[in-house]
Amino acid sequence: MDIEIRKLTPDLAEDYVHFFDITPHSEIPDSDDCKCYCVWWCNEDQDVNNIDNLSSKEKRRNYAIQKIREKKIQGYLAYHDGKVVGWCNTNTKADCLKCYCWRRLMRDVPTEELATGIRVKSIFCFLVAREFRRKGITKLLLERVCQDAVDDGFDFIEAYPLKEYMNEAKDYMGPAGLFKKYGFTIIEVLFLKLQAMAYGTDKVYIENLCPMKNWSGLSGLPGLEKTAAETMWD
Ligand SMILES: CC(C)(COP(=O)(O)OP(=O)(O)OC[C@H]1O[C@@H](n2cnc3c(N)ncnc32)[C@H](O)[C@@H]1OP(=O)(O)O)[C@@H](O)C(=O)NCCC(=O)NCCS
Repeated sequence: MDIEIRKLTPDLAEDYVHFFDITPHSEIPDSDDCKCYCVWWCNEDQDVNNIDNLSSKEKRRNYAIQKIREKKIQGYLAYHDGKVVGWCNTNTKADCLKCYCWRRLMRDVPTEELATGIRVKSIFCFLVAREFRRKGITKLLLERVCQDAVDDGFDFIEAYPLKEYMNEAKDYMGPAGLFKKYGFTIIEVLFLKLQAMAYGTDKVYIENLCPMKNWSGLSGLPGLEKTAAETMWD
């Protein structure tokens, strides 16, 4: 199958939103509530207490176009026959600590390494059109993310898969087995079923992070209670 991976650029914004318009998510396929347009993962400061502006499908669609133009939503699109069939949301970790999903779900992810100047690329989300699943599209997206991250001078690439594969909906951050195949190593087992995995060309990151086992979580960032985040994977 002929698949082309393209980096998301402002001129592809309409392709992006059209993909979300017509691509059902997994669990409640026809629900507009599920049309996220992947706006919750980006390098924008999103106040979790004031998200009414993203409360409808239309608002999220418009917001996505705006944030793609501002390069705040970043990632890669998979094209087949001129149409988008897959998406990977990936961005610079240091820039994304105040987006809605980071504040809500990622408070247990270590961030201390950022203070040392280490540059980390975070992989947040995948969505592949249902009829194109299990054809290696997520693999192709991941390969391109890794290749560009190396070319762009990132030191490490980080992903946050569930510890074990659950199902197509819950594994939206990418299946752990996939990252293992590509040499990602577990750096931290987080709450419940989530874990952080990192990939790097040397062991500096792992060695830096290992002494941080007593790390106590994000401080100073407002966020929902941990129990709310935990329920996401129940
Ligand atoms: C999870 C998802 C991204 C996987 O995409 P995909 O393109 O089908 O994955 P690939 O074909 O590249 O498979 C890569 C690896 O992932 C794992 N994997 C993917 N789908 C799997 C499944 N259904 N069961 C078990 N393992 C699976 C396997 O390890 C696979 O490697 P293998 O084929 O060599 O065994 C896809 O199922 C999906 O889009 N789900 C919906 C996610 C969603 O709702 N996103 C929006 C959230 S807001």
